[in-house]
Amino acid sequence: MSRTIKIFDTTLRDGEQSPGASMNVEEKITLAKQLARLGVDIIEAGFAISSPGDFEAIKRIGAEVEGPVICSLARAKKEDIDRAWEALKDAPKKRIHTFHSTSDIHLKHQYRISREEALKRSVDMVTHARSYVEDVEFSPMDATRTDVTYLLEVVEAVIAAGASTVNIPDTVGYAMPEEFGALIKEIKTRVKNIDKATISVHCHNDLGLAVANVLSAIRNGATQVECTINGIGERAGNCSLEEVVMALRTRKDFFNADTGIHSEEIIRSSRLVTKITGIQVQPNKAIVGANAFAHESGIHQDGLLKERTTYEIMRPESIGLVKTNLVLGKHSGRHAFRDRLKEIGYELSDEDLNRAFERFKRLADQKKEVFDEDLEAIISDEVQHIKEVYILKSLRAESGTGVTPTATVEMEINGKSDKQTGHGDGQVDAVYKTIAAITNTKSKLDAYLVKGITGGTDALGEVTVKLEEGGKKATGHGADTDIIVASAKAYVNALNKLEYWKKGKGKS
Ligand code: KIV
Ligand code: ZN
Repeated sequence: MSRTIKIFDTTLRDGEQSPGASMNVEEKITLAKQLARLGVDIIEAGFAISSPGDFEAIKRIGAEVEGPVICSLARAKKEDIDRAWEALKDAPKKRIHTFHSTSDIHLKHQYRISREEALKRSVDMVTHARSYVEDVEFSPMDATRTDVTYLLEVVEAVIAAGASTVNIPDTVGYAMPEEFGALIKEIKTRVKNIDKATISVHCHNDLGLAVANVLSAIRNGATQVECTINGIGERAGNCSLEEVVMALRTRKDFFNADTGIHSEEIIRSSRLVTKITGIQVQPNKAIVGANAFAHESGIHQDGLLKERTTYEIMRPESIGLVKTNLVLGKHSGRHAFRDRLKEIGYELSDEDLNRAFERFKRLADQKKEVFDEDLEAIISDEVQHIKEVYILKSLRAESGTGVTPTATVEMEINGKSDKQTGHGDGQVDAVYKTIAAITNTKSKLDAYLVKGITGGTDALGEVTVKLEEGGKKATGHGADTDIIVASAKAYVNALNKLEYWKKGKGKS
């Protein structure tokens, strides 16, 4: 019989530890809802004690996201576990995930405690977490550089104390697949009470082996995988959810194991993570990269035309990648618009639908063919749940050879209109300097990215910017057929997010 592998998604916790990937509370909720649609079993929604933003996100995800178990990370410390419980207590399905390092390297240099003391803290804190909740997970951090006999002792002791999941992390991405599989096998065969717990694995990708290590662990008895969408995470990232899921599904004959993931939601989840974090997926990344299903070579194309399976081991449709033909145009009405949005997974409130529809009509006037990708850009641009302090009313930018790039921008700030003209080293720079002057903001532009959404010179262009001000970071997006307008929208969107965070709503 095929084994079921649980998917523990940590995009919102370990994924958020990627440099530059911080998300605000609303973005975390949006992503958590998508993870629920994707069918993950557990969502690690954050690290409750680490910031007020994380605490609020865990609490609200617990209240608003149906389906998966909601989990908070906690160090093996009483105050961490108490805070995790506070954030989780109203969630219908909850888990506390506590961890302590077990390797001599960490115990000697970082914690400066003995193995005995680390064991005692781990057991005591699992016991404390169990006083709140039945579902407790324990991770012996840096497990792959831990003395194996001691590791087995810790695993047995925390299970005896009530941990129902033991997660074996390759914290620094050091393990080799054969070796990691053998470690899981040892845990499975030598820990006396292992039948009372789920064996989970959590692999980092420092040597590019995270997915290989996880698959080897599954072959040797692991039944839970900790992973992230697009493989984002600390340093080189974590095991990528989409890769492990599709490897199990495509090679069921080899693994005899599968997950409950609705794989048709993969591409949408991947794009949402890119949009929210601003971290782009490399084009040749397996499963979700732009080239993952693109066949360039003539020989391959010839084979594919004759029989798909000649060069395709997965169907693009299986990850939700459907080549859409023209879906809507300027004569399409509100009904058709709403229906199409529903088909691609968006159910909007009347207010959001009205805004999105108005925007669609304007786009359909400019651009003959409106594709699903355009609709997705409109949704992410128009449907925001952050109160806008700054509103872009109008924009005019001029540049050319021998002309000083100039921008005239009109904005509404807290109901008051202001219009100014400024200059810069190019149109975008002139627009950004003028907006900064009007809004009286001093943020630093950390990143600026432009992407064409669909083909053709009339395509919607999507701009992503990352701003930083006073240690707070925000990612903004804007889409328009005019790239300068898209740039201005992205900048204003990021400024609104920074403003929202300044008011104490975001991660500190
Ligand atoms: O990489 C790691 O060891 C972790 C633990 C907290 C599980 O993220
Ligand atoms: Zn990790």
